[in-house]
Amino acid sequence: MALLEIENLVVEFQTATGPFRAVDGVSMKVHEKEVLAIVGESGSGKSVSMLAAMGLLPWTAKVTADKLTFNGRDLLGMSSAERKKIIGKDISMIFQEPVASLNPCFTVGFQIEEVLRIHLGLDKAQRRKRAIELFEAVGIPDPAERLGHYPHQMSGGQCQRVMIAIAIACNPKLLIADEPTTALDVTIQKQILDLLMRLQAEHGMGLIMITHNMGVVAETADRVVVQYKGRKMEEADVLSLFESPKSNYTRALLAALPDNATGDRLPTISELFVDDPSLQGAAR
Ligand SMILES: Nc1ncnc2c1ncn2[C@@H]1O[C@H](COP(=O)(O)OP(=O)(O)OP(=O)(O)O)[C@@H](O)[C@H]1O
Ligand SMILES: [Mg+2]
Repeated sequence: MALLEIENLVVEFQTATGPFRAVDGVSMKVHEKEVLAIVGESGSGKSVSMLAAMGLLPWTAKVTADKLTFNGRDLLGMSSAERKKIIGKDISMIFQEPVASLNPCFTVGFQIEEVLRIHLGLDKAQRRKRAIELFEAVGIPDPAERLGHYPHQMSGGQCQRVMIAIAIACNPKLLIADEPTTALDVTIQKQILDLLMRLQAEHGMGLIMITHNMGVVAETADRVVVQYKGRKMEEADVLSLFESPKSNYTRALLAALPDNATGDRLPTISELFVDDPSLQGAAR
């Protein structure tokens, strides 16, 4: 059975200028121990589709799906109390902007211990011990001292590690990592990716890796979903995607990799596929 199964997910935001469809009929599955990458340019609905699956979108979002299940349980049909028991425990997410996702008013120690208190019911001493272990696991030096720091006292890379520690605190079955390395410099990017892959292998988690970086896809993913303008353009195992991409959009993405360039200006999607009306114009 798939861990997360999504069929025909549609997300529509109510906006001042009328409804806006950010996700338009996306389907995907992720299994235990599998790494699924979701790629696509900015605005293609990658974050919104995962936030919808987690039930974390604001009230202005109308979410519908033919199927949205975790371990066979219907996420849309269950009560919000039931869903809260799963979210943050069995499914957790590393949010796109680590610094903005941490609460500036509380120490990082308090924030990780809250998760351990709410989901695992650990007492104060147990929480502190586990928080130190988690900070060690994600490579934060002097963890006992760091627990007393506020997010603004830490670097972007350290905040990212805190977010990862919080996300893995309850040994989730599924981890969704939303652009976990984009905000970081290249050396830290590699460390964070290695860390995520090591944790995924050690805990046998399913991992959804949202990225617009095809290098990250090649290095980490088993399977790939390519999104464009809120739609799924292609789904393939990682080798087939790079060797024989089926959709024009995937070919355009691959052609836009600087490694493949001849030194000339990189082509735009519309230029590459002038005959494909679905790929004309910028993403909304
Ligand atoms: N709360 C909201 N209200 C209205 N529109 C929204 C809201 N949140 C996101 N959107 C729109 O939904 C679309 C998809 O956004 P999303 O954040 O999923 O893109 P993304 O693929 O994650 O892009 P990026 O690579 O930049 O993170 C965008 O056009 C965005 O402006
Ligand atoms: Mg995003």
